[in-house]
Amino acid sequence: MTLSSSIPTHSNPESRRYFLRTYGCQMNERDSEAVACLLEAQGLLPAASEEEADVLLYNTCSVRDQAERKVLGKLGLLKKLAQRKPGLVIAVFGCMAQRLGQELAAAFPHVQLVVGTDQIHRLPELLRAPAAAAPQRVAVDRGVDGLEFMGLHHPGRVSAYIAIMRGCDQHCTYCVVPEVRGPERSRPPADIVAETARLATDGTREVFLLGQNVTAYGLAEARRQPGYDRNASPFGDLLRAVAAVPGIARVRFTSPHPRHMNAAFVAAVAETPQICDSFHIPMQSGADRILELMHRGYTAAEYLDRIAALRQARPAATFSTDIIVGFPGETEAEFALTRAAMDTAGFDHAFIFRYSPRPGTRAAAMTDDVPDDVKMARLKLLLDDLKKRAERHNRAYVGRSVEVLVEGVSARNAERWCGRTSCNKVGVFTPPPGCQPGTLLTLRISRTTAQTLFGVAESAGSP
Ligand code: 5AD
Ligand code: SF4
Repeated sequence: MTLSSSIPTHSNPESRRYFLRTYGCQMNERDSEAVACLLEAQGLLPAASEEEADVLLYNTCSVRDQAERKVLGKLGLLKKLAQRKPGLVIAVFGCMAQRLGQELAAAFPHVQLVVGTDQIHRLPELLRAPAAAAPQRVAVDRGVDGLEFMGLHHPGRVSAYIAIMRGCDQHCTYCVVPEVRGPERSRPPADIVAETARLATDGTREVFLLGQNVTAYGLAEARRQPGYDRNASPFGDLLRAVAAVPGIARVRFTSPHPRHMNAAFVAAVAETPQICDSFHIPMQSGADRILELMHRGYTAAEYLDRIAALRQARPAATFSTDIIVGFPGETEAEFALTRAAMDTAGFDHAFIFRYSPRPGTRAAAMTDDVPDDVKMARLKLLLDDLKKRAERHNRAYVGRSVEVLVEGVSARNAERWCGRTSCNKVGVFTPPPGCQPGTLLTLRISRTTAQTLFGVAESAGSP
């Protein structure tokens, strides 16, 4: 089928424009970039706004009720636009499309396409299908091939995301992800290394390896092999291989699970200097009874042990985390344990969420008995702690030199540029002559806030 005969509108294919909006996690950001590349390969061009677009795409998140409500609100609002623009195509894809499928199509007749997490690569084909034949299509089948699209990138990014696996087998009782993203499947290491090498050739200096549970990378596959060695770490091996790609200065990853952080993983971190000093490790709670109810598979002490092991491997390590407050039955004393564990771990950054029951999860059968104002108060306390800790940690940088990977013009002030330290702190500076994105630059820090280090460029840096 040629492109021009298959596009069901009056317009010239060259002029068809798409607008893509992403909700949710970094994995969704990655999927969206790959989808954008697929659409552009079909001749579609990005639109500056929803109003200017012929095709609207929404990549959705189901992790919390609030995330879903945002999208439902958005889809409701689009009804008017759809009425005004008869040729407009609206597609919803990702986690919410997977979870709600037909229900979503029924609730929003102006949405033509509902495409689940394993069918995303079919978006161009589904968008080409003549609308008259099927006013609405719902594609939510599981586990099909065609995931090579995951390797598509817009070239020239200093820092790039790489999806190394899909799905999750941990089955935390609060979490809808295993249902929407399915079981764990890891990409072969050779594919990931080849993708890294392509990115490096295009100028990427930092790669961010993504998965719902990266430390379980390759384990589902390894367990099926005879002679499986539980002391090995396929993820540790992958980190070493990716870091060895010429041109790659930095490697980051998210999210690891403490359960699979064995000695081989810690050794890979210790022995691979390209791995950055900031580690995001979801803790969720500091109370053992709650961790058990969550089915996390570790105690607070075990979690803190893993942090200590990484700190020993990397003395400059900094840690961030995810926390849920107000899980069913969480008492004041259990909340206090979380607060104390966060202090012991010394997190200077965290994503803190109020528990929200997700349909179909095991926790949804427990009584959501912590009142919302209590959840809110707990969340505020933790945020206050974090801010104080971050200010204190950042103050210690004043007068010190740190290296940043230059990203480009600062979002807040066009005269300043920004970059990130290995610890994932944003450094803001006046660019020295010849400063380029992708340069490693040393800054002497003069002033700090809880979020930012302000400094003066000390060296021209290495390209
Ligand atoms: N309620 C609140 N927060 C949740 N998360 C996952 N499921 C829920 C839920 N039902 C949080 C966890 C996870 C992060 C991505 O979202 O902290 O690590
Ligand atoms: Fe949201 Fe989880 Fe899906 Fe990411 S994987 S978009 S966090 S539900």
